[in-house]
Amino acid sequence: MTKIFVTRAIAEQGIALLTDAFGKESVTVSPHNKAVPRPELNQSVKGCDAILPVVNDVIDAEVMDAAGPNLKIIANFGVGYNNIEVAAATERGIVVTNTPGVLTETTADLAWALIMATARRINESERYLRAGKWEAWGPQLFLGLDIHGKTLGIFGMGRIGQAVARRARGFNMRVLYTNRNQFSADIERELGATYVDKATLIAESDFISIHCPLMPETIHAFGAVEFKAMKNTACLINTSRGPVVDEAALVSALKADEIYAAGLDVFEHEPAVHPELMDLQNAVLLPHIGSASRETRTKMAEMAAANIVAVLKGQVPVNPVNTLPSTK
Ligand code: DGY
Repeated sequence: MTKIFVTRAIAEQGIALLTDAFGKESVTVSPHNKAVPRPELNQSVKGCDAILPVVNDVIDAEVMDAAGPNLKIIANFGVGYNNIEVAAATERGIVVTNTPGVLTETTADLAWALIMATARRINESERYLRAGKWEAWGPQLFLGLDIHGKTLGIFGMGRIGQAVARRARGFNMRVLYTNRNQFSADIERELGATYVDKATLIAESDFISIHCPLMPETIHAFGAVEFKAMKNTACLINTSRGPVVDEAALVSALKADEIYAAGLDVFEHEPAVHPELMDLQNAVLLPHIGSASRETRTKMAEMAAANIVAVLKGQVPVNPVNTLPSTK
């Protein structure tokens, strides 16, 4: 019998694709609403043909070996797949897939929500109102910063970075970007964006939105040096991966007013958040909800499930992230 382990409850449409293809008894969904503890994870994946993890489940060589030789696919529920030891999967002939594309616009929407929340002090002023502190309309009450007409710096111009850049048009912004590669003049024109080096992006941007993948070279790409070089009126937005930002250095920079505010959807040690961030009014903190719209999370569930169905039926999945020497 086919055995599939899903590490978290996902949209029923995704589960239905799996049960329709392999039968109800083939699919086990973890009963926990949080990461499955390692010993239980190793036990749950034993004998599995497929694992469907979410972006905070670490699927390393130990888990793959605990699953055993039947394991053919790890179908990540997310576009980022830094939680999976891809080289170990490739060595073992296991396909790794992700869910690109479907979450691009939704995540870009959330990056913009953070741009607006940081600049206009949305969460801070709402907390004030709810606490019953609002006594009168005030000409100086919760003064924030304008967004329109400012400079937006995109760090990592993949699909999501591009979607964030496109939205800046409506705000009449100048858009700068850094990326591994510069785009052609035609694409830059379409995006309304200008390629610059990291130092220029940091020095000139009023808002910096991070959209790079997490790789050894992007760990702490934003730390004490970068914060000192940013404008003290700048807002830093991170909807990519927490370790791209040195959280302790960010706390110091926010406390010292080296930068104006930070909007974070991701953290270095999720679900833990640096305790001092919790106390800072100029930090907007969200529990990794970048792709969390009903529509998008349904599409992600369907996409991850479709990748499993394809591989277990001997077909090529739509979203592989590794290349195997031969199909298992
Ligand atoms: C992803 O897809 O990588 C996101 O972080 C999950 O929302």
